[in-house]
Amino acid sequence: MNSSHSLTIHPAGGFSAELTVPGDKSISHRAAIIAGLANGPSRVSNYLPSEDCLNTLRAMESLGVAYEAIDTNQYGPTEIIIHGTSMSLSSPSKVIDCGNSGTGMRLLAGILAGQDFESTLTGDASLCSRPMERIIRPLEGMGAHLEATGDKEGCAPLIFRGRSLAPVRYVMPVASAQVKSAVLFAGLFADGTTSVEQPATTRDHTERMLTYFGIRIGCKENEISIEGGQTPQACDLDIPGDISSAAFWLVAAAANKNSSLTLRGVGLNPTRTAVLNVLLRMGAQIGHSVTTEGNGEPAGDLEVHGSELQGTEISGREIPNLIDEIPILGVAGALAQGTTCIRDAAELRVKESDRIRTVVENLQAMGANVREHDDGMTIEGGAQLRGANLDCFGDHRIAMAFSVAGLFADGETNIRNTECIATSYPGFEDDFSKVCGRRI
Ligand code: S3P
Repeated sequence: MNSSHSLTIHPAGGFSAELTVPGDKSISHRAAIIAGLANGPSRVSNYLPSEDCLNTLRAMESLGVAYEAIDTNQYGPTEIIIHGTSMSLSSPSKVIDCGNSGTGMRLLAGILAGQDFESTLTGDASLCSRPMERIIRPLEGMGAHLEATGDKEGCAPLIFRGRSLAPVRYVMPVASAQVKSAVLFAGLFADGTTSVEQPATTRDHTERMLTYFGIRIGCKENEISIEGGQTPQACDLDIPGDISSAAFWLVAAAANKNSSLTLRGVGLNPTRTAVLNVLLRMGAQIGHSVTTEGNGEPAGDLEVHGSELQGTEISGREIPNLIDEIPILGVAGALAQGTTCIRDAAELRVKESDRIRTVVENLQAMGANVREHDDGMTIEGGAQLRGANLDCFGDHRIAMAFSVAGLFADGETNIRNTECIATSYPGFEDDFSKVCGRRI
């Protein structure tokens, strides 16, 4: 990021570009954890060297998992050999810092709950104000002894006291892949069959990767079960590009009539592609095809041609499968003709920022006509956006979504405190230049 940690965006005309987005964040976290538990070395390619995923890699290292960087870029390791410990982790010498990452903390909690040593997970101020009750409840139901010691009730730092776990059947009140994954990971360390039922389908990377590493998983409708005592079998894994990162460029091209864009090697797991369905419904011209199913994760290329977008409704069971893309879909709604209504998305209020508030506030600052709801927003699209001075509230996806909005604004858009982009997309500024043909 630049030294002042702010971005200045000028309106751009049409562009024609080709890009490969970095590795998937959700899959990278899981790769560090599952390979670290496996029965030998696993070679992981296209690991995302973002701050969130590097924190998870370091967390596993502090639990006794050695790794070697085979290839690195300017941000960190992208190809790694992770030396699995055959499910045998060791006591960390210090508090484990998950930084800004809710995924890192909740997934690691599932692992730490089942260890016979004490450990502590902490994070930055934003992470230490996000709800952890949702994982504490099921893990306590398995007999784990953990305590949320944050200033805010139910929040990190989380202290784990060594305990053995009993299996559980847990019905999740919220559709959360992080909670599901925490329970499944804890289930690996419990004696017997643990199962978790989700109210709606959520991203299934944990199930796919555990299966790829040879773990037997049961999947019956929305109930997933795992037998404790299994050890992942080390193997090589190539991580596809992150569709949540691709989404920023998809909207930048889809809403600009004179643009075309090819995105290579993007993960096309059906539990993550709802953003494509929404954009297609809005009239976007996007072609995609799965070209590889290796590693248990489908991936392929996306071709986008700009057109005029129309408003749509985004709600119900679609929400968990595009939850991270809602900030940029909010921007797409402002650029579209007609009304875009987003409902059933109250979970956005407990992300890296309150994303209902922060999207509404920034769209309004740019002159869009938006109304805030408890669980979403209604956007009357089509008004010309104007350049503005914006904050991103420490939230990487708000910073990136409004960088794209700035391309369509009249005048200059300034976004403060954009260093948070490095938590998920450290090369964002370079890719912005590749797509739009100019630096920001
Ligand atoms: C993630 C799950 C989602 C998502 C997050 C990544 C994951 O969170 O918002 O960015 O990798 O499991 P929830 O499980 O809280 O919905």
